[in-house]
Amino acid sequence: MRKKIVAGNWKMNTLPAEGVELAKGVAAGRNEVCDCVTMIVCPPFTHIHSVVESLKRSNVEVGAQDCATEVKGAYTGEVSAEMIAALGCKYVILGHSERRQYYGETSETLNKKMSRAYENGLTPIYCVGENLEEREAERHFEVCKSQIEEVVYNLTEEQFGNLVIAYEPVWAIGTGKTATAEQAEEIHAYIREVLRAKFGAAAEECPILYGGSCKPSNAAEIFSKENVDGGLIGGAALKAEDFLAICKAF
Ligand code: PGA
Repeated sequence: MRKKIVAGNWKMNTLPAEGVELAKGVAAGRNEVCDCVTMIVCPPFTHIHSVVESLKRSNVEVGAQDCATEVKGAYTGEVSAEMIAALGCKYVILGHSERRQYYGETSETLNKKMSRAYENGLTPIYCVGENLEEREAERHFEVCKSQIEEVVYNLTEEQFGNLVIAYEPVWAIGTGKTATAEQAEEIHAYIREVLRAKFGAAAEECPILYGGSCKPSNAAEIFSKENVDGGLIGGAALKAEDFLAICKAF
């Protein structure tokens, strides 16, 4: 049985006090969600400490949205994986399309970030996905394959055993357009095949989350697909009620 996961990516939203309120709202509904679902919230760096504090004993995990490529030192403005782990984060989102697109993250950058995450006991939530132009040119399989080959294929078997993948078609992020459940299943199954080619049977255990305008009204249908193991939620994670409704969609 693969792990089921719903992770909220708050992006650059909420002020610290609002983040704590949101986290408390999520924790308050935790008992209505199946224990079989791992719930994660990923606040901005500035709120991680207070959110971790407010989620103690709640069975809701905390992740960061990024980490530095380097271990420590003269890297103004960066936040290291070690710092994040020391605050109590268990997860870190890496390779989100917004990071790839606006901050020039490449596979080379991401290989370093993945190493830093594993060195500090963090589980990466590694994002892949094609943009609209690539989807229209029917290059989505090829794009996801290379994003996996260039980064995930460099992991050891042990590291791979502690990885979450998120498939997020860029054309569906924050646009209100969602991939259909069939489109999601098609590419999730393909991604699993690409993982199987390198890691064999261990690929069956790797959770693959869907992300991109996932909301209470479409989550149940998307999550019902065999190779969809949960969601990475942006906009709808900013309201505790909506996030909880998505968590209950399993
Ligand atoms: P969205 O974002 O749910 O707002 O589309 C998803 C994401 O970028 O992780």
